[in-house]
Amino acid sequence: MRTIIEPFRIKSVEPIYFTSREERERILEKAFYNPFLIRSKDVLIDLLTDSGTSAMSSNQWAGIMQGDESYAGSPSFYRFEKTIRELTGMPIVIPTHQGRAAEKILFSVMGGAEKYIVSNTLFDTTRANIECSGATGIDLLCEEGKYPSIPAPFKGNMDVEALESFIDEKGASVISLCMLTITNNSGGGQPVSMQNIREVKAICEKNGIPLFIDACRFAENAYFIKSREKGYENRSIESIATEMFSFADGCTMSAKKDAFANIGGFIAMYDESLALKCRNLLIITEGFPTYGGLAGRDLEAIAIGLEEVMDENYLAYRIRSIEYLTNKLVEAGVPVMQPAGGHAVYLDAKAFLPQIPVDQYPGQVLACALYLEGGIRSVEIGSLMFGKYDNCGALVPAAMELVRLAIPRRVYTQSHIDYVAEVILEVFKKRKELKGLRIVEEALVLRHFTAKFEWA
Ligand code: F0G
Repeated sequence: MRTIIEPFRIKSVEPIYFTSREERERILEKAFYNPFLIRSKDVLIDLLTDSGTSAMSSNQWAGIMQGDESYAGSPSFYRFEKTIRELTGMPIVIPTHQGRAAEKILFSVMGGAEKYIVSNTLFDTTRANIECSGATGIDLLCEEGKYPSIPAPFKGNMDVEALESFIDEKGASVISLCMLTITNNSGGGQPVSMQNIREVKAICEKNGIPLFIDACRFAENAYFIKSREKGYENRSIESIATEMFSFADGCTMSAKKDAFANIGGFIAMYDESLALKCRNLLIITEGFPTYGGLAGRDLEAIAIGLEEVMDENYLAYRIRSIEYLTNKLVEAGVPVMQPAGGHAVYLDAKAFLPQIPVDQYPGQVLACALYLEGGIRSVEIGSLMFGKYDNCGALVPAAMELVRLAIPRRVYTQSHIDYVAEVILEVFKKRKELKGLRIVEEALVLRHFTAKFEWA
């Protein structure tokens, strides 16, 4: 059959709430033109993030009931630990309450002044945790990853030549870690090939630099390897995932993505002495090493989710649903990141709204327009999220101005996605009428979460 269907049926539903355009105008004004400040009840289709927003399976809910809430030594922890050990091959598993808590702990130990962390592209919280430790985060994305409209199979790859030059320039001793984000969330949800992971590992090994994987969307990445990389066509997702992890010295993961959990994360590694330092911090900030900021029931849900996500029928549907929306937009001439990523559709706001200068945040304007037109919430991934100011206070823009429509896992049906396409096409028709925004208030770090705007 050609039609790829949702590989589940729906047992429990929640209502979504409709608003009129006039209501949305008032709501957006009250939210200072920042979708993060809109209440979720005022959103019709919420594509702000795929993080913590998944629908859990009946098995996961059953696991929730079986969670053992002992402070120390809970069987739920051992189930969690066993699943992650089998998946990653890494013997040490440290639970955390979410991905950024894992990052905070890891970079408190591995970061610090005058250190560098190199990456294909660091996610915003990862970069913020690196910078918070005093270290510098460096993105070395492959060239093809920088052009949204040019399709290539592995646009999340790290530029290995740039990695070698960077090591030559700075010296390996100041590079405390190399981190591959798979898939590359900030660069369009694009995958990293096995060959690239292998090459990056070889360079790291030669220079004594540990390689870590930011594994939030490892299963989506594994599916792309299976469907696009020669030699992997007949391999199971489990074996591809295990091979990906086999090149790494450690990993961090937000279980709020590919583990279908509403909360949770972990760090896994081989190095005992690093683990000792991480666990010391864990106890101060997260909790005892067998729960690390999570309830026993969360540990169960994550362990089950990590197994469910490797189901090929699920991944085929998942990747197809993102591609379906991307293709509808491409056919209508809407500028989008191509090819489709693993968890989200990324509109190219610079090409969508060429009349709006980057310092008037075209991505934010587009996100606001999608909300006003159809109650859709999305997020800017551009100069609001990653822009910096130079010494004269001028904006140093991000490499790309994207708007991400992240699709929660197992939550929306095809007609929801058809509606999203219709709204985007409507905004595309009216794109010339849109005007820029100006920031009126912003925080020093991670400003996109709380910044306030007015029309420029
Ligand atoms: N790494 C990546 C690649 C991520 O996408 C995220 C979160 C994190 C780390 C941090 O994990 O949220 O559990 O603390 N991404 C979410 C998003 C927030 O919307 O893309 P967390």
